[in-house]
Amino acid sequence: MTISNITVVGAGVMGRGIAYVSALAGFQTTLVDISKSQLNDARQNMRRIGEKGIERGKVSEAQIENLFIHLHTSTDFKKAVEKADFFIEAVPEKRDLKQTIMNEAEKYAPKHTIFTSNTSTISPTELASYTNRPEQFSVMHFFNPVHVMQLVEIVRGLETSDETVKKVQQVAEKMGKETVEVNEFPGFVTSRISALVGNEAFHMLQEGVASAEDIDKAIKLGLNFPMGPFELGDLVGLDARLNNLRYLHETLGDKFRPAPLLEQYVKAGRLGRKTGKGVYDYTKKGE
Ligand SMILES: NC(=O)c1ccc[n+]([C@@H]2O[C@H](COP(=O)([O-])OP(=O)(O)OC[C@H]3O[C@@H](n4cnc5c(N)ncnc54)[C@H](O)[C@@H]3O)[C@@H](O)[C@H]2O)c1
Repeated sequence: MTISNITVVGAGVMGRGIAYVSALAGFQTTLVDISKSQLNDARQNMRRIGEKGIERGKVSEAQIENLFIHLHTSTDFKKAVEKADFFIEAVPEKRDLKQTIMNEAEKYAPKHTIFTSNTSTISPTELASYTNRPEQFSVMHFFNPVHVMQLVEIVRGLETSDETVKKVQQVAEKMGKETVEVNEFPGFVTSRISALVGNEAFHMLQEGVASAEDIDKAIKLGLNFPMGPFELGDLVGLDARLNNLRYLHETLGDKFRPAPLLEQYVKAGRLGRKTGKGVYDYTKKGE
């Protein structure tokens, strides 16, 4: 079975990025959301990324033109899933919501459709159990920003077949990504390490070890990380970071207990770049 049609559900930070690399790779791509304004915003965002890519010589004008021929947006979940050969879920990191999406997708998807989720932490075995095709399910974990980051983590559930892993690898490679295969553990490889580093940075800020700027600078220049933990947290979203930590705390124990200062930032609505203010204030920087 060749994969031609890919349906991505959720047009937020990740879903739009995944739809971009999917349509650019030549898959007929349908991006679905409950919000029309999110879909419009996603299109505009993809335009900007495409234009920047052309300016920098990363992609040609013809490729971007082709991308928009392959990209479709829709609020009709049923129709989009009915024609999917490959399904990628990218709705917020809430178990109940992901369960509903998997249940609904199972109702409408053809038998051959492969199901994947871009979850950062949730067990693929659990998500697969919300479908009737656990052997055709795996986590496909992309990174932000999707068009720049090279990796896709493929995480097997208990019943994921070798054939499914191979197909997910092929799709990721066609999207220009490198893959790693990971066995099921909460937080996989990347989210587990990233959550720990990000949380520790919040503990240090709370303890007064150094300013946020200096903690970020130390980690970048001393440890050669491309971004500081606060810069990354603000990019990913502090609410998303807190959700991940809560899940890892519940599943892996006390070392993942969220730092009180992070909880406070989220309560205050300081979620990062998307709200204009997180650890840093982007309204002042005019961003
Ligand atoms: N943000 C990151 O850096 C990052 C990185 C890797 C993985 N992830 C994971 O990707 C997933 C999505 O995260 P995000 O940051 O893109 O979230 P987001 O909040 O930016 O976007 C989620 C989108 O889903 C839509 N949505 C909500 N309910 C829906 C429904 N029932 N049907 C269709 N669309 C619906 C929302 O309108 C929104 O546009 C999460 O599981 C997250 O853990 C996020």
